[in-house]
Amino acid sequence: MKQQGKVDALLGIVFGDEGKGKVVDVFTPRYDIVARFAGGPNAGHTIIFEGKKFVLRSIPSGIFDPGKLNIIGNGCVIAPDLFMAEAMELESAGYELRNRLHISKRAHLILPTHRVLDRAYEAAKGKNKVGTTGKGIGPTYSDKASRTGLRVGDILEDFPTKYAALKARHEQILRDLHYTDYDITEEEQRWLQGVEYMRQFQLTDTEIEINKALQEGKNVLAEGAQGTMLDIDHGTYPFVSSSSTTTGGVCTGLGVGPNKIGEVYGIFKAYSTRVGSGPFPVELFDETGDRIREIGHEYGAVTGRNRRCGWVDLVALRYAIMINGVTQLIMMKSDVLDGFETIRACVAYERDGQVMHDMPFETEGCKAVYRDLPGWKEDLSSMTSEEQFPQAFRDYIHFLEEELQTPITILSVGPDRAQTIVR
Ligand code: IMP
Repeated sequence: MKQQGKVDALLGIVFGDEGKGKVVDVFTPRYDIVARFAGGPNAGHTIIFEGKKFVLRSIPSGIFDPGKLNIIGNGCVIAPDLFMAEAMELESAGYELRNRLHISKRAHLILPTHRVLDRAYEAAKGKNKVGTTGKGIGPTYSDKASRTGLRVGDILEDFPTKYAALKARHEQILRDLHYTDYDITEEEQRWLQGVEYMRQFQLTDTEIEINKALQEGKNVLAEGAQGTMLDIDHGTYPFVSSSSTTTGGVCTGLGVGPNKIGEVYGIFKAYSTRVGSGPFPVELFDETGDRIREIGHEYGAVTGRNRRCGWVDLVALRYAIMINGVTQLIMMKSDVLDGFETIRACVAYERDGQVMHDMPFETEGCKAVYRDLPGWKEDLSSMTSEEQFPQAFRDYIHFLEEELQTPITILSVGPDRAQTIVR
């Protein structure tokens, strides 16, 4: 029997924005298929390719490599208007998409009224806003779970009737919420154009395609979106996104069995960031936080919001490694920490005098317990091999590996593809 292929997962394991786009780009040559399994246009994977910057939202990052098939899996949600804008930008930059991008018929559609509902629900939450990206993610996954959603495959038959019924349902909810001051006329026009545009793509049973490809010995890279701490089950609920961002989500979001999963790469930054509301025990409100934000350019790719910054959080990382079965770690943006006298790492949380090493049910009110390590003065971004690393940085890596009991096999020391060191 022919050797079967594997699905390797590449997952953000904290609050997203770890730099998955850059790593997928480096990884793509090793795979035949790159697939997104969760989330939608709330993601913004920045890739600098041939000197041009692209922010991919729904389209997998393998799109820049002509020989690869890219898949938007059933676990994703897709907004036709935003998809059209993203795809047209790539097409006008010369990338052929129509034969290399397959979209699952089972992926759910984000309607314009889902976005209005996103705003309405946020407004109704008052002080407890999630701080969503406003892309309609939560309401779309809610409709999926309520069995009232529309799927990509629905655009192929009697779509106007189905669309009108769901839109009317949303309008009724909005009236009940007394949220009536909105106008989607133009947005809806673009959205409907987007639906027409999507019809020109290959809308397929991607779960069958992927499994057939695996049988033929092909390998798949599952490109994560967001991060484990934003996972609907394992994140800091209710301040989370609405999809399964973990390895379990790879299985459901692509339709592959757990025995098909190979390596699980967990990506994290040498420090922590979070966008939106919710508890963040390592958050720095001082000049150090500002300095990390400034040097690391920590501003949201989708919303442009300031990202909240802090030191690395080992409680969250240990938890995410456990939940995902991470086999290898990838540490990004190590160079951002250049020049700090002292580097801190959160080794535990403390609340009401109780020290916790395991992730508690509720992280609100937790304070970080830190271990201090000496920083380094050298410029990591110019280094091309591990041998050049200053001792203090080696010690930081060693400390993290010991604490996390997982090898860090790839280190990124700058935005360029070349600034990636494989150990
Ligand atoms: P939603 O996914 O738009 O519903 O937003 C829910 C929460 O997840 C908010 O705190 C967002 O800021 C956060 N979030 C969603 N997508 C991303 C992402 O790609 N990177 C970082 N945070 C995200």
